[in-house]
Amino acid sequence: MANLIIIGSQWGDEGKGKIVDLFTAHFDIIARYQGGHNAGHTVIINGRKYILHLVPSGILHPDKLCVIGNGMVIDPSALKTEIEELREGGIDCKDRLFISNRAHLILDYHRLVEKGDEDRRGDARIGTTNRGIGPAYEDKMGRRGLRVCDLFNPETLKSRLQDNVRLKQALVPSIAESLDVDAIYDKALKLGRELSGYVVDVADFMNRNLDEGKSVLFEGAQGTMLDVDHGTYPFVTASCATAGGACTGTGVGPTRIDGVVGISKAYTTRVGEGPFPTELHDETGNLIREQGQEYGASTGRPRRCGWFDAVVVNYSRRINSLDSLVITKLDVLDVLDEIKICTGYRYKGDLLKTVPADIQVLEQCRPEYLTVKGWKQKTDAIQDFNDLPVIARDYLKRLSDLVDTEISIISTGPDRVQTIVASRDSRLSSWIKL
Ligand code: GDP
Ligand code: IMO
Ligand code: MG
Repeated sequence: MANLIIIGSQWGDEGKGKIVDLFTAHFDIIARYQGGHNAGHTVIINGRKYILHLVPSGILHPDKLCVIGNGMVIDPSALKTEIEELREGGIDCKDRLFISNRAHLILDYHRLVEKGDEDRRGDARIGTTNRGIGPAYEDKMGRRGLRVCDLFNPETLKSRLQDNVRLKQALVPSIAESLDVDAIYDKALKLGRELSGYVVDVADFMNRNLDEGKSVLFEGAQGTMLDVDHGTYPFVTASCATAGGACTGTGVGPTRIDGVVGISKAYTTRVGEGPFPTELHDETGNLIREQGQEYGASTGRPRRCGWFDAVVVNYSRRINSLDSLVITKLDVLDVLDEIKICTGYRYKGDLLKTVPADIQVLEQCRPEYLTVKGWKQKTDAIQDFNDLPVIARDYLKRLSDLVDTEISIISTGPDRVQTIVASRDSRLSSWIKL
């Protein structure tokens, strides 16, 4: 039984939810390890759409166990709503969802602090999802955060809340009056009681299950370029969205994990601010947005669209030690006359083949493109790789060569059935028989 990590190879929204759903049948446990309800993972089953934010996408399979790891930040109110909405949709989380007692909490003041911070940044704002993610991780690293286990210790909860609220009031005077410690405390205690049945020591849970031979699929959120260490800092999220985060975010050591699968669109999108070298500001960008329905699953914001960037996905291969790549949304390119692939960045006469650390340099990089013909044929109902138009197969071969990684699966539509296994002889197929 293999243990695999799925990560986003670009700026998020690569279709991780669909692919996690597809892989789930082959695993016992599906674990999220970082981020929070900034994520929006879409899964479509029998025409019904589910958007998961905090709960792993595996919850839609009734026989699977799901984990919210210690590396995540949890807004207990958002989690309660998500669990209730799933229940209304016929999905019961009881005895199947396990929440880490060490995960940090997002409380109401985090969102207010974030709004204040974004307003203060003005034109340099990050364009966050305004879910309180960044401020909650700031408190974690500042060693003043409140964790799930604190919900069950009223005295600690109260005194730490008082300290934190005083600090936020000093930091952002404009929100001072709207913060009522007693109200935050009462709400947190109540939510703690409601969620208590789900709370466990996740590292212990995971390692015991692994010892018993159970297999785990680690479901990454966001994407490599939004990782706080490796992404386009400061235009990133506040967590470790790369493969390494799976270990720290669940308490499972690296030697227990067998492989890493990257998910990438056949083009690129980004939501929020920050550099995006292959972004299209023209009709082609608008066409991709409409064809791909590129609107945020969490915030509804239009996603910025551009060409596939092999520099980015190559970088992602290295940072994550990708074994295999899944290419999604190939169908979106069906209508294009020609398609471009970025093969390098031109910066002041130099040709860069990797992502520079300094975003001011990245902002001045001009993509070098390779242009190929479009296949101008519908691909969304194709089941067999060899039935794809030759030009589409060539396009995929080029992507695979440029990023030096096998492409094991191609997705040509949001539904489970709109999936093509590119090779039965891939590294991926040595772990799961698709
Ligand atoms: P995630 O955050 O990585 O899980 O991705 P999102 O769910 O935010 O965004 C991906 C969107 O593309 C969702 O609306 C999916 O239903 C949709 N999708 C996934 N794969 C495909 C595909 O191959 N083709 C098309 N047209 N849509 C897809
Ligand atoms: P999934 O898991 C795409 C982006 C935000 C913003 C930046 C920081 O669905 O792929 P944050 O609220 O996290 O502090 O915002 O990160 N962002 C995402 N973009 N997909 C996501 O998640 C994202 N989660 C955060 O738009 O630019
Ligand atoms: Mg998403």
